[in-house]
Amino acid sequence: MKKVLGVLVILILLGLVVPVANLVIPAPPNRLSALRTEDLLLAQAARVLGVKCVNCHTSEYVLPFYAKFPVAKGIIEQDIRTGLRFWNLDEWMADAASQPMPEAALAKLEHTVQHDEMPPTQYLLLHWSHRLSADEKAALLAWVADVRAKHYAAAWTAPRFANEPVQPLPQSVALDPAKVALGDKLYHDVRLSADDTLSCASCHGLDKGGTDQAQFSTGIDGQVGDINSPTTFNAGFHFAQFWDGRAATLEDQADGPVNNPIEMGSNWPQVVGKLQQDEALMAEFLAVYPEGPSKESVTDAIGAFERSLVTPDSAFDKYLMGDETALTDNQQRGYALFKDYHCATCHVGMAMGGQSYEYMGLVADYFAARGNVQKADFGRFNVTENEADRHKFKVPSLRNIALTYPYFHDGSTSDLKEAVRTMATYNVGVTLPEADVAAIVAFLESLTGKYKGALLQ
Ligand code: HEC
Ligand code: HEC
Ligand code: HEC
Repeated sequence: MKKVLGVLVILILLGLVVPVANLVIPAPPNRLSALRTEDLLLAQAARVLGVKCVNCHTSEYVLPFYAKFPVAKGIIEQDIRTGLRFWNLDEWMADAASQPMPEAALAKLEHTVQHDEMPPTQYLLLHWSHRLSADEKAALLAWVADVRAKHYAAAWTAPRFANEPVQPLPQSVALDPAKVALGDKLYHDVRLSADDTLSCASCHGLDKGGTDQAQFSTGIDGQVGDINSPTTFNAGFHFAQFWDGRAATLEDQADGPVNNPIEMGSNWPQVVGKLQQDEALMAEFLAVYPEGPSKESVTDAIGAFERSLVTPDSAFDKYLMGDETALTDNQQRGYALFKDYHCATCHVGMAMGGQSYEYMGLVADYFAARGNVQKADFGRFNVTENEADRHKFKVPSLRNIALTYPYFHDGSTSDLKEAVRTMATYNVGVTLPEADVAAIVAFLESLTGKYKGALLQ
């Protein structure tokens, strides 16, 4: 009996040593806790994040003394690996004083604080003073709202929705109308393909939600690609182009399909040669670009046209701009669920996507379940060759999602309900009740907007 008691006392003492030591030993200093800035809200947020959070969310982490014990090290490193997978602050922390936290990272922070999810429970067992206090939560949320207002909010949002993670699209974007008109022609011009059979619109039809509504696109000579064609509508709001982000801008992107042997299979000298034979087009061209057609001028005009492909005035945007009757009750419930279930932590901003690279299969292995893994499934890894980027994709926009089927980079389903269930399973880690799936889909259907004044269909 005495012996058992003795062991118990030792275990309790040992169990106390770590948490008590954690109370006394200060958190290791890092870029955030040491941040110097005039911005008071940022300074407060950085202090909280620096002490209580970043050690699991930056690869510059410092292991505590008890990580020397064999089991502890494994548990701690596992926590950090998972933490980094979900929320990696490296890039932002490199210059936190002058660059805003990216929109998706900001939405994740907001969601986590609002739902009291961090720090993890088992960590709090050993770090008694690391639970976020009410003041600290308020400081983090005030900073999130401030960054959003300064960098991401739309001025045309109703005041009560000003701090939403998603924002309404603008009515239009300021552009040179002559470039847009020329770009419109070129976007629909089959002479951009080697055999005069395909234009950009063949795979990004403005009457098909900006896509081809096929699992994979068919290029020249009937060649079938290996990745789904994303919409060009609202692509101007994306932070990069292509599923893997390999083009920085729309102008850079437009060079890709022309030269791609299984898409348009052409080259710029060939395209320019064909365009130069068209006198009417040349007159219009020279009025905008005195240097005449070239890779630079053609892609510049197409880029301008694509930037004009904005689809405002969806029912959801009217709602965000103050018209409470624009959404049905079920759609409003769907939007609330969309936020609760973390969807709006990746599908953020005006385009509801296109602001970050995220894992397909954040919480469960989508590719193991689907099988037949191809190079196209590696996503961002194909550009960076960084192992941590394997299976990360630029988050697709959910604008006009009812029309942009089939869904996902692999075009694996045309059923929006199925796409929502897939996201819930692999990226959120929940099995949604069918009523919730239906409400979310009803909400997603409210994202269809207008192009040139007419609702897309
Ligand atoms: C002990 C390591 C650890 C600490 C400390 C920690 N986190 Fe995390 N964090 C994780 C792990 C692990 C996950 C993965 C999700 C989970 O396990 O719940 C995560 C996930 C997250 C996410 C992503 C949530 C999402 O919706 O995708 C955010 C944001 C986050 N943490 C913020 C914080 C904040 C803010 C703090 C400080 C208050 C903090 N974390 C402290 C380990 C940590
Ligand atoms: C044969 C079909 C096909 C043709 C023709 C085609 N595209 Fe694409 N487009 C695709 C596919 C497939 C992707 C996705 C490729 C990837 O991400 O690796 C894509 C991606 C894009 C994207 C990126 C969108 C995003 O959200 O990342 C833009 C913009 C785009 N195309 C514009 C154009 C333009 C402009 C043209 C004409 C110069 C064109 N496309 C011609 C099939 C096509
Ligand atoms: C961790 C980030 C993340 C979360 C959380 C998330 N998504 Fe996604 N979503 C993505 C990525 C990345 C893709 C593209 C995956 C692919 O193509 O393989 C995607 C694709 C989609 C698509 C298909 C879009 C298209 O054009 O192909 C839909 C629909 C969608 N998500 C809805 C949702 C819903 C609804 C939720 C919440 C239940 C959700 N997502 C949660 C990152 C996320």
